[in-house]
Amino acid sequence: MLNIGIITVSDKGWQGQRQDKSSQVIKDNLSSLDHHIVKYEIVPDEVGVIAGKLIEWADKGSVDIILTTGGTGLAQRDVTPEATLSVVDKVVPGITEAMRAETFKVTPSAILSRAAAGVRGKCLIINLPGSPKAVRECLEVIIPVIPHAIEIIKGEVTEHKAPDSEA
Ligand code: MTE
Repeated sequence: MLNIGIITVSDKGWQGQRQDKSSQVIKDNLSSLDHHIVKYEIVPDEVGVIAGKLIEWADKGSVDIILTTGGTGLAQRDVTPEATLSVVDKVVPGITEAMRAETFKVTPSAILSRAAAGVRGKCLIINLPGSPKAVRECLEVIIPVIPHAIEIIKGEVTEHKAPDSEA
């Protein structure tokens, strides 16, 4: 059972001026994972606030994964990747590289997301872009690798073998 936290990063959402549809899309697209959503919050596009929330949730040990949505683009206020990279112990570039590369095939603007991913302690943090469509497309790419990633982070894999390999 994976404990998942969701952080929506949006000035407008935080001010109550925009409905947060993306977090609902995250919840709707996690059905293939055995999971609980244990935390959810909307925060403004502020590096300190985002980083503080990531540290708080990761260090309490109550979440295995934090999925953020929003703030990954090129606008001046888009700082979710900076906040994420400032708190992780290890960067995991392959996750967001795959998101961009795979979804670029259907949505060329996918490469405008600077989303980052990494590990803090025993918590995997993954940035998703902000639009509901982008969230859906990106989750489809990364969900299959999440259970194995968490096993490794938690030290539950002793013999190192990917779950889909035969050797
Ligand atoms: N990725 C996918 N798969 N699908 C999309 O529609 N939208 C892009 C990109 N990533 C998109 C996507 C767009 S238009 C932008 S501006 C960036 O994500 C950044 O979005 P954000 O600032 O809301 O995180």
